[in-house]
Amino acid sequence: MERKPFVCGEKAALRVVEPEDADYLAYCHNSPDVRPWFFTNYPTNSLRQKECIEKIYENYEYVPLIIMNQQSKTDVGVTAFHRIDIVGGMATLSIILPDRENWNKGYGKEATHLMVEYGFDVLGFHRIQLVVAAKNSAARRIYASAGFQEEGVLREAMYQDGNYWDFIMMGLLASDWKQQKKGR
Ligand SMILES: CC(C)(COP(=O)(O)OP(=O)(O)OC[C@H]1O[C@@H](n2cnc3c(N)ncnc32)[C@H](O)[C@@H]1OP(=O)(O)O)[C@@H](O)C(=O)NCCC(=O)NCCS
Repeated sequence: MERKPFVCGEKAALRVVEPEDADYLAYCHNSPDVRPWFFTNYPTNSLRQKECIEKIYENYEYVPLIIMNQQSKTDVGVTAFHRIDIVGGMATLSIILPDRENWNKGYGKEATHLMVEYGFDVLGFHRIQLVVAAKNSAARRIYASAGFQEEGVLREAMYQDGNYWDFIMMGLLASDWKQQKKGR
């Protein structure tokens, strides 16, 4: 069966997560190219991911979408809204491209843009936020290009390789997003 996009861009498309994606999600989270950026110390596995997938379509507190190459329809990563707060209209955004060879090809920037558009225009969020390691320059750049503002520093928030590392809190409001759209 053809993998139809749920949200479509030019280079990237986002498709829904199916039960058989448990292996791919575990692969994304366990990738040695990704773990240092998320400060992930513990592994996950397909069984744990299968349990998460079962809950997605029950309560919509966590909404992941698989990022595909728009042309070839091959999977290149996963993006998600986490901890969705219906009352506050708020969600935390994440993005993972597990294979380094897919970096710097524009997938991250476009997937971020597509999620922001989906979050504000379809889900009606008031605010989208995230935290990113201060040393993760590529990620900070793609979030800034989508309009996220740096709102504060979580000083020495995570430990890795003998050091404590700063994290940056970033946020984007629906009102900022609407202003940006008007200016385009
Ligand atoms: C961060 C990540 C999502 C970016 O996705 P990507 O597809 O590589 O990003 P894009 O190609 O769309 O854009 C990368 C941008 O960062 C820039 N960049 C790349 N490396 C950089 C670096 N070391 N310093 C500064 N900018 C850098 C690129 O020039 C590009 O900006 P531009 O388009 O304005 O020139 C991807 O690298 C990834 O999954 N990394 C591991 C997981 C991770 O860090 N996730 C985010 C955690 S908050």
